Amino acid sequence: MSQPLSPVAGESRSRPQGPASGTRDGAWWRHAVIYQIYPRSFADADGDGMGDLAGIRARLPHLVDLGVDAVWLSPWYVSPQADAGYDVADYCDIDPVFGTLAEAEQLIAEARQAGIRTIVDLVPNHCSDQHPWFRAAVAAGPGSTERDAFHFRPGRGAHGELPPNDWPSNFGGPAWTRVTGPDGTPEEWYLHMFAPGQPDWNWENPRVATQFDDILVFWLERGVAGFRIDVADNLVKAAGLPDLVDYSGESPQPWADQDGVHAIYRRWRSVLEEHSRPGDEKVFVGELWSDRPERFARYLRADELHTGFNFDFLKVPWQAPAMREVIDATLEAHGPVGAPATWVLSNHDTTRHVTRYGRADTGYGFDRAARHGSPVDLEAGWRRARAGALLTLALPGSTYIYQGDELGLWEVEDIPAELLQDPAVAGTGGADPGRDGCRVPLPWSGGTAPFGFSPDGSANEPWLPQPASWAALTVAAQAADPGSALVLYRTALALRKQLPAFGDGPLDWWPEGGRAQDGVLAFTRGADGKLACIVNQSGQGIRLPDATEVLLASGPLGDGAVLPPDTAVWLRRE
Ligand code: NOJ
Repeated sequence: MSQPLSPVAGESRSRPQGPASGTRDGAWWRHAVIYQIYPRSFADADGDGMGDLAGIRARLPHLVDLGVDAVWLSPWYVSPQADAGYDVADYCDIDPVFGTLAEAEQLIAEARQAGIRTIVDLVPNHCSDQHPWFRAAVAAGPGSTERDAFHFRPGRGAHGELPPNDWPSNFGGPAWTRVTGPDGTPEEWYLHMFAPGQPDWNWENPRVATQFDDILVFWLERGVAGFRIDVADNLVKAAGLPDLVDYSGESPQPWADQDGVHAIYRRWRSVLEEHSRPGDEKVFVGELWSDRPERFARYLRADELHTGFNFDFLKVPWQAPAMREVIDATLEAHGPVGAPATWVLSNHDTTRHVTRYGRADTGYGFDRAARHGSPVDLEAGWRRARAGALLTLALPGSTYIYQGDELGLWEVEDIPAELLQDPAVAGTGGADPGRDGCRVPLPWSGGTAPFGFSPDGSANEPWLPQPASWAALTVAAQAADPGSALVLYRTALALRKQLPAFGDGPLDWWPEGGRAQDGVLAFTRGADGKLACIVNQSGQGIRLPDATEVLLASGPLGDGAVLPPDTAVWLRRE
């Protein structure tokens, strides 16, 4: 047994332009490590308390040091920010709170120069009620061609005072809002599956489809590497918008996973192919909250989306048998369509996994209110999050890191109610605690807030308050600490680049490494099975197999080659 590699701090910052991991076979996106930037919370250069593009550009060296292949930016478009930018008023320009289109172009180019591709967030299910087409639709009145770009319907009841159907909004209340005519009388209702400020597009209308072709091309021509597609399975609604109580279709709801949606993605794929070159493929990643692997895989057929977020893995509890089941199901579903899996532990909508893994129930569920504020063992959460990082980076396919994962940030659950901005909070009258707790601005340096998020002496505080104890979790503090989460992530990403067997390719469960039913996930990677990952979820120390060299461990090993509980290792088998 040899000792783990000592973590490599301060990797070289400039990498050659071109495929991010040139030594590997296959397209870059089949094994990429992709970092999600939530622009309003990443870095604030102008001191208004809200992150911006100048802040991202200034902090690119952090991403180079970390060693990611690409970034996915949550929406940066012109928006009234009714849902933190997922309400788009202009898909082809940047919101002034974030910067300008010229800065976006500079950011894409500078990142590419540093070896990092840019994936932008596309929101095709809905826009903002301030989008010019929606404003025109309201003004044009019932029966107009303008209204046909959205779902306008007369209400039910004697005076049209009831919503047209029984669909609920994701943010509470009905999915319909009634507009008033020019004389102030109530008139038709429009559909919004999210906030009232987010009217759903009618994808049966050919003008809507043409508009999105143009939006794709607009950003491709500005050098983006691809698109993350918001609520990718919701675009097409069941014909006639039937009541949920009466619906008996193949999909669970009349607003999700309708067969017609696949034609949209086939059309988009051909747009993307026209802009792809070998070694510079453009890609789609779909936000697909489907719990039916066979339906999920339909989106990943060769002429549709390249990848989809694997939320089953995000939801699964920190338990080896359950995790193994999800890993198997994921690989089985992806195999026949030839798409690589993705692995994701956190994002801007879900409870940060340090917190999740520190609770008695380590799974993720949409019943946020029930889980919010339940006791968290942070030490356990951190240990498991570190082990989870090595696990996800060892699984076949691409891995997503949500900003702050690399710092071990936890969910902030004590934000004062009056500062919460998630529309889900107001929409449910406060019953839903919302998603602001995972969106708190990053701590970069220094001993007090804003921890370098905004420049010293800025007039405005960060848009959400940062916990004082994040002083210990800043990038600067962790870069200087060889035992930190940041150094672990940097080391793991650097090592993963040198080990082409990680990423896309075969996985074999490794009986000698331990068994899931005994609380151990152990698998080998690559055709020769020489690389292995073991994650100990058994609650007690286990002896590492003989004839192995430890390449990296998520925490200290015990004497006599013992892998402690909630710890993962990467091994080379001799
Ligand atoms: C999914 C996004 O990730 C989330 O933040 C947003 O609120 C909804 N889609 C609506 O766009």
